[in-house]
Amino acid sequence: MSAAILDGKSLSEQLRAEAAAEVADFVKQTGVVPCLAAVLVGDDPGSQVYVRNKEKACEKAGIASQMHRLPKETTTDELLTLVDRLNRDPAVHGILVQLPLPKQIDERRVLEAVSPMKDVDAFHPENVGRIVQGRPRFLPCTPHGIVEMLRRNNIPTAGANVVVVGRSDIVGKPMAILLMQRGPAGDATVTVCHSRTRDLPAVTRSADILIVAIGQPKFIKADMVKPGAVVIDVGMNRTEAGLVGDVDFPAVKEVAARITPVPGGVGLLTVAMLLHNTLAAARLQQTSR
Ligand code: GUN
Repeated sequence: MSAAILDGKSLSEQLRAEAAAEVADFVKQTGVVPCLAAVLVGDDPGSQVYVRNKEKACEKAGIASQMHRLPKETTTDELLTLVDRLNRDPAVHGILVQLPLPKQIDERRVLEAVSPMKDVDAFHPENVGRIVQGRPRFLPCTPHGIVEMLRRNNIPTAGANVVVVGRSDIVGKPMAILLMQRGPAGDATVTVCHSRTRDLPAVTRSADILIVAIGQPKFIKADMVKPGAVVIDVGMNRTEAGLVGDVDFPAVKEVAARITPVPGGVGLLTVAMLLHNTLAAARLQQTSR
């Protein structure tokens, strides 16, 4: 039997419409238009597309956006100067520094320099710490999108064996933390796998919900998936055959019960949750004035 598709497109449209309605309400109440400043350093083609998509999504949701492009030779200090200016600008509510940054830039220092109140990616150590302690200010966009996808498709996580493949700061680690928290869309038994995991197929086959974010095209094969599992593919690999996920979709969809496609899956949710966080940042700054 072929798996049912978990449709990121219709869900992202729904999430974006909800954000747009909340933004309109906020503007009416406060007269303040939420504003996102996106910073793009260098000319990575993938990053250019992502940032452009974020800008377009803001516009549709009634959120103002600023685009700051810096050349690929930019130094850490130059980038810190811009971040400092955006931190102090009361018209800017959210700041997003698109990753990856060029090699010469100290990424940690830059992410730590973003004001925690404007940190719509939830990359600042203070915000990561708050997530770990279960009192988040912002939720990281991709893991939050996945939580919404599970919740709104009535896929229970309480007591489920969830296996996360990949331990990145952007997806794997925060995903595992959210799913292990107490409460709705949490309470899962979470295992995190990575390149040093022994007998990875045996571990992935134990998953009721398998979440894959390792950045290797078609890495998860059909024999690594338990029949009837839910498979969430976070991969976005640009190959000669086009955009390909981390899951061998045609083979795995014959084993899984539900599966996200690439494109049309998780990627679209990330942008929708960014809109949600930009509004949350504007609200925070409004109430702390
Ligand atoms: N690069 C890949 N994913 C992301 C993300 O969610 N936020 C930022 N800023 N950069 C990324």
